[in-house]
Amino acid sequence: MATSPFCTLGRRVDECARSDSGSTRAPSCRSPVPRRRSQCCRPGSGIAATRLGTLTTPPLDLFPLSARIEQGELTIGGVPATELAGEHGTPLVVYCEHTIREQARAYRTAAPEALVVYGTKAFPNVQIVRLLHEEGFGADVSTQGELELALRAGVPGDRLVVHGNNKSDNELQAAAGAGALVVLDAPDEVERAAAAGVRGVLVRVTAGIEADTHEAVRTGYHGSKFGLPPDDAVEVIAAGREAGLDVLGLHVHIGSQLVDTTASRMAVEWLAAFAADCRRRLDWTPSVVDLGGGLGVRHVDTDAAPTIEDFVIELRRRFQEAWAGHELPPPALILEPGRSIVGRAGVTIYRVGVVKRASEAVTYLSIDGGASDNPRPQLYGAQYTALLANRASEEAGCAYAVTGKHCEEEVLIRRVLLPSARRGDLLAVPATGAYTLAMGSNYNVVPLPAAVLVAAGVARVIRRRQAVEDLLAWDVE
Ligand code: LLP
Repeated sequence: MATSPFCTLGRRVDECARSDSGSTRAPSCRSPVPRRRSQCCRPGSGIAATRLGTLTTPPLDLFPLSARIEQGELTIGGVPATELAGEHGTPLVVYCEHTIREQARAYRTAAPEALVVYGTKAFPNVQIVRLLHEEGFGADVSTQGELELALRAGVPGDRLVVHGNNKSDNELQAAAGAGALVVLDAPDEVERAAAAGVRGVLVRVTAGIEADTHEAVRTGYHGSKFGLPPDDAVEVIAAGREAGLDVLGLHVHIGSQLVDTTASRMAVEWLAAFAADCRRRLDWTPSVVDLGGGLGVRHVDTDAAPTIEDFVIELRRRFQEAWAGHELPPPALILEPGRSIVGRAGVTIYRVGVVKRASEAVTYLSIDGGASDNPRPQLYGAQYTALLANRASEEAGCAYAVTGKHCEEEVLIRRVLLPSARRGDLLAVPATGAYTLAMGSNYNVVPLPAAVLVAAGVARVIRRRQAVEDLLAWDVE
């Protein structure tokens, strides 16, 4: 982020481009990438994108750690974008193995004693879950489907945490069969979990904290559908012990895409006070505490988010202090990161199709995917940025709204500056590794894209592309 009113080229920041959010930044002025002059946006070129005459390629720090611009082209894991698109088609979600491993290691280094379980929902994929298991992770699953996926990836039961606000008896039985830790989320789960043969449980409690994030991903407030209000949680702990369950501890998860530690610190302090209350009322203290996930990632240049290291070290310190403050025995710690593991690791590559002027103010650049592979802009107003992957060193002087191919006024990116785009160009959207494909749909009978994992110049398919025939096969003729 720009901290002085001048960019490194000496221009005033406010002479540079305005970002999507309307704030003024000069990201590209710091880009080390050399640029050629654009041949686009000339009068009479036929494409009336607004000519802005500025340099605004998004900084590579939104992209995976292995991303580079080489000979004018984006490469990830040593594989050029044109090669990825040529071999695997578009849209394509490209995951950088190095980034995923580094994010995982950052958690393990910052909290070496903790059990870290991957929030599988962020991108449920057998190979990613297996890779993370190699890095010492378990898995947090919230449905039978995610449980089966984690088991198929080889995660043992003692590294599985099973969630869900409405678990079926089948799901409880599957969790019991796997020997997983189950997070109780409702009073009626006590008897049903015991009957299903579940042993170890945590009790999820709502801390009454409103995290500063989108309301759809805020889960720690009183009234959330997740977890139990404190008094009910106390009753469930007591009932669980009576029913013969091994009530090991407490769980709290206050929300997702958190971009500072304030709410998490409050939750930790609240939880310690709640644990002390449990000791007083039940003569029971938690031997395990699961603090959930939640750390956010940057999607656009103007975003800020703490590093994994800063976030976890701060949380852990508060946790230890708060527990000691109530003279509680230190419990084992579980963390459940999802987005911060795979978010930055993923880049979606689309092929540019129609480029069309819609008004004086707006020129649409249409891509071959959109809402069906990334519904987050529509659901949460999420912002993204992009670069032209095959012309990444050219001057970015034209403003576009990026739209998809669905029957919907969908806007993936409200405003991005690019070189004058042509049919066939490749648009790369960074920070699309979490909750994108995972939340994809087949709206308009559009097949879901493939995903590849890249490392050391090699891309391997970790999720096959759907075909129209796959989708038609569901209809009974
Ligand atoms: N643990 C629990 C109990 C959760 O509910 C979640 C996410 C996580 C861990 C992982 O949280 P993360 O580290 O990824 O923030 N679809 C939304 C996000 C929903 C998050 C659901 N729960 C989005 O696209 O932003």
